[in-house]
Amino acid sequence: MERIVYLDGEFIKETEAKVSIFDRGFLFGDAVYEVTAVINGKLVDNEGHMIRLQRSCSELQIALPATLEQITAIQKKLIEVNQLNEGGIYLQVSRGSAGDRDFGYPENVTPTLVLFTQARNLLNSPKAVKGMKVITTEDIRWKRRDIKTVGLLAPCMAKQGALDKQVDDAWLIEDGYITEGSSNNAYIVTNDGVLITRPLSNDILHGITRKALLELAEQAQIQVEERPFTAEEAYQADEAFVSSATTFVWPVVEIDGKTIGTGKPGSVATKLRDIYIELATQNAE
Ligand SMILES: Cc1ncc(COP(=O)(O)O)c(C=O)c1O
Repeated sequence: MERIVYLDGEFIKETEAKVSIFDRGFLFGDAVYEVTAVINGKLVDNEGHMIRLQRSCSELQIALPATLEQITAIQKKLIEVNQLNEGGIYLQVSRGSAGDRDFGYPENVTPTLVLFTQARNLLNSPKAVKGMKVITTEDIRWKRRDIKTVGLLAPCMAKQGALDKQVDDAWLIEDGYITEGSSNNAYIVTNDGVLITRPLSNDILHGITRKALLELAEQAQIQVEERPFTAEEAYQADEAFVSSATTFVWPVVEIDGKTIGTGKPGSVATKLRDIYIELATQNAE
């Protein structure tokens, strides 16, 4: 079925949505994005995504072309017109087109706002049951990973490198420590049950799911340590997992060919996934 997408004020067929070749998102990757999960036709944790969108735009001096309330209304309309029950909504704001190519930020351009839906099976994903295999690879990304920009070639290369090796994803390493996954935050659970994940800084994306999970972990009396960890520490861990808006929590059962824990999804990852989904479903709007 052809989707209805949103482009600059219009709800139109996906094949009819056209953006200028001078759009700076296309020429420079000068654009930011967000992905919000949809369960039962409702938006999950969307407020956090909207707040991060605003921050990404403000870091890059891109003026949001609509209020957050208007954007949320567009998201809801897209869910409705596409009859989306489960999946995600992709949202992108680029600085827009100045009708030519110059590096400096142009004045008086109208940002381009694009949204589209993606139907996906989120709750019954096979990866949640079986777990994922990952490899580690050097983190070659830029130094402002806290801004959610569409400049994603480095993560695409890392992901493809993993797929070429018949595994599911890559964990990125900088100065000997894991930063995060190619499109998710990374965690391990030590043999004495401590949940470890890298602290927030410009080195990683400040995951909306990460924030929710750390709160849930504390409520569930799971000890949390926000500190960098190495691949060697991860190989020895009892559990490993990743989080993101559309995966929620996916266990990691193998890293660099080494089995993690029992080789099956661990109890902490499974528990956090279950309580996150329960709460997210309840609070979805
Ligand atoms: C590099 C990176 N880290 C972490 C995340 C997880 O963030 P969130 O939970 O907000 O989806 C993503 C999601 O796209 C990501 O691309």
